[in-house]
Amino acid sequence: MAKDKTIYTCNECGGTSPKWLGKCPHCNAWNSLIESVAESAAPAKNRFASLAKTAEVAALADIEASDVERTPTGQDELDRVLGGGIVEGGVVLIGGDPGIGKSTLLLQALDALQRAGQKTLYVTGEESGAQVALRARRLGLDGSQVQVLAEIQLEKILATLDAHQPAIAVIDSIQTVYSDQLTSAPGSVAQVRECAAHLTRAAKASGTAIVLVGHVTKEGALAGPRVLEHMVDTVLYFEGDTHSSFRLIRAIKNRFGAVNEIGVFAMTEKGLKGVSNPSAIFLSQHAEPVPGSCVMVTLEGTRPMLVEIQALVDSGGPSPRRLSVGLDRDRLAMLLAVLHRHAGVACLDQDVFVNAVGGVRISEPAADLAVMLAITSSLRGRPLPKGFLAFGEVGLAGEVRPAPRGQERLKEAAKLGFSVAVVPKANAPKKAIEGLTIHAVERVEEALQILRTLD
Ligand code: TYD
Ligand code: MG
Repeated sequence: MAKDKTIYTCNECGGTSPKWLGKCPHCNAWNSLIESVAESAAPAKNRFASLAKTAEVAALADIEASDVERTPTGQDELDRVLGGGIVEGGVVLIGGDPGIGKSTLLLQALDALQRAGQKTLYVTGEESGAQVALRARRLGLDGSQVQVLAEIQLEKILATLDAHQPAIAVIDSIQTVYSDQLTSAPGSVAQVRECAAHLTRAAKASGTAIVLVGHVTKEGALAGPRVLEHMVDTVLYFEGDTHSSFRLIRAIKNRFGAVNEIGVFAMTEKGLKGVSNPSAIFLSQHAEPVPGSCVMVTLEGTRPMLVEIQALVDSGGPSPRRLSVGLDRDRLAMLLAVLHRHAGVACLDQDVFVNAVGGVRISEPAADLAVMLAITSSLRGRPLPKGFLAFGEVGLAGEVRPAPRGQERLKEAAKLGFSVAVVPKANAPKKAIEGLTIHAVERVEEALQILRTLD
């Protein structure tokens, strides 16, 4: 067999060069050439000639639209983000900070699948077999029949996959795997990309579902999981800070299900446990209302969740700081400007900190109104009323825009005993919701006006 030749492919234009150059000879981009393997089998000019004769084309209507079959992992919250379970031949990428619980969760899932009669394989490149066994004992998975392979060479992993034909294989982690074909170090963009491509091809060819674990590196985009997102079927990321016991998994991309769905877990002595009703955990438990706190309902995927937004406004120095945790910082600056211009609430020389409780990250603009009210409450040193919540997007003109699926959000709040809500006019329900007094507003000034009447 002819050995595959190493070539260098440009990240920008896709052009190739036989040797590494600082500047791409085709598009003149700097530093864009990345090592890859040239397919040596056929000469380039008639590579597709034989394929053209045999490939078949069919009308969309004639192709049977079979729904994919899913195997539940036995972890309800994980199945929720996967869109129901593992899909045959599907490739899942799970990213997250080191120590957040990727290995723990996958080991638990593999054990459940193995017990349900599926063939599993856990490929560990970071830990030895003994370390994995120790973790399994700690998780209470005694007598686990999960097959473990401690290996980092791609060719050996592929051969083992081929020989064992597991239903599901976990590669922990893709950054430790390297291929003989490339000279770059394991964990480099070239290696990560090449190895993931081979594994993806193997998954599609054999029907083995493959889960790739990827560490989010400090540099983020570089050799991290980001470079693989387009290759795989499903991308999941762990969120939440390692200091709290709660972990969120969010689906960023899913060819077999909904995106932005989230799964909620708690890290316990015995590994990760799913939290089926997460609403209550993102509220900090104040006995009495405190200034600077406002609860909102965020809708993550299909599930409404109550989250507490906290703000602290304190006198700052000559260049006051604006800091946010779990919320967008640029959006915070915008909201402060709207608050000043349209409601006359000025934080000009003040430090402003905002935080979404519990390490949850909120990207939807429906948090705007709650952020504004929390800031106003902190600035004035007056708490919002007991059982109060607010949501709604705020525009630059000071208007309050509706949030998607407002009814569901309000019902969830009522279910958890909230009694007063300030919401965008278009979200006000036609039928009253029991136990909940709803104030519908169109502008920021109105929302603040209502707060004054509630004091
Ligand atoms: P791990 O799954 O090794 O993280 P990753 O693979 O994402 O790097 O998680 C390790 C952390 O989880 C570690 O800090 C200890 C903690 N942990 C528990 O709290 N309980 C447990 O049962 C286990 C196995 C780990
Ligand atoms: Mg790990």
